[in-house]
Amino acid sequence: MKAMILKSPGGTENLVIEDIAVPAIGDNEVLVKVSAISINPVETKLRQNAYFLNLVLHLEDGEAPVILGWDISGVVEATGRAVTRLQKGDDVFGMVNFTGHGKAYAEYVAVREDQLAIKPRSITHQEAAAATLAALTAWQTLVHYAGVKAGDRVLIHSAAGGVGHFAVQIARHLGAYVIGTSSATNRDFVLGLGAHEHIDYVAERFEDIVKEVDVVVDSIPDLQHLERSLQVVKCRGSLISLVAFPDERLSRIALMSRKFLYRMEVGSDGDDMQSIAGLLEYRRIRSHVSQTFPFDQIPRAHRQLESGHTRGKVVITL
Ligand SMILES: NC(=O)c1ccc[n+]([C@@H]2O[C@H](COP(=O)([O-])OP(=O)(O)OC[C@H]3O[C@@H](n4cnc5c(N)ncnc54)[C@H](OP(=O)(O)O)[C@@H]3O)[C@@H](O)[C@H]2O)c1
Repeated sequence: MKAMILKSPGGTENLVIEDIAVPAIGDNEVLVKVSAISINPVETKLRQNAYFLNLVLHLEDGEAPVILGWDISGVVEATGRAVTRLQKGDDVFGMVNFTGHGKAYAEYVAVREDQLAIKPRSITHQEAAAATLAALTAWQTLVHYAGVKAGDRVLIHSAAGGVGHFAVQIARHLGAYVIGTSSATNRDFVLGLGAHEHIDYVAERFEDIVKEVDVVVDSIPDLQHLERSLQVVKCRGSLISLVAFPDERLSRIALMSRKFLYRMEVGSDGDDMQSIAGLLEYRRIRSHVSQTFPFDQIPRAHRQLESGHTRGKVVITL
């Protein structure tokens, strides 16, 4: 089968297509013939950084080949002996083995049954692949970490991006009043997702406009931005950081002002995937796929993500 191998950490030229054996499956795994893969910023960061690559993929010393990627949608080709729920021919989607070596940039991927959900018939494999790591992050942040409930005021930074565009829709589904930040270019897109208010982060400072919110989702890689976000959270409210790690000083400020401050990490979870499948099926949320690329252009997809200004998701088709 074709797989996109990372020959060594570095630029996109280090991503090379090779022919390798189809993966063997364990008792609890299924073999998925991949129809679509989605690309995330984390893959571009790991591609360039040996330390984080080893850490996040849990690589053994000298382990090869290294295959990036976690987000797939496709068709079950074979099932392990202990698999009970899925069968050959099922259309499935999910985030494979995060954190860990997902090996999703390939024609076939071995996946634990309990990390997958059945793809709703009403959506394409591209839309399904888009709604995996990014949608799981939004779901786990808002539901598990922040416990968003009807009537909460929720501020979502990077509302036009992969995670943000799902977070706006999921927060609306949960009954929240939603405020989203992006540049002016994405204003109509963010409001079209269901945000009640939009803030243009280029022209305005969000802390001058919003105060006393219940929840902030912050995906900006900057501790000062996180501190500004903390200022607008009300007492007993939550600030969930997706990127910046709070330092001791900021953690102390949060504690003293009785605000919850967490750095979350998404995890593979079939039950959460099933919840997302339900939202997609009943059109409570939609994937916005802004660009698709063929398999051999994964390096181009990486460069697009590295722009920091992708709208919705970028998807690879096979
Ligand atoms: N902790 C975890 O488990 C976890 C999980 C998923 C993602 N993440 C991280 O979260 C970050 C976001 O992920 P993503 O997939 O959503 O990225 P993405 O799709 O690349 O985000 C792009 C979006 O960010 C917006 N943006 C850029 N700078 C902004 C700013 N200062 N304020 C508001 N919006 C801004 C852009 O809007 P404009 O074009 O309008 O500027 C663009 O639409 C990444 O660093 C990713 O690695 C962490």
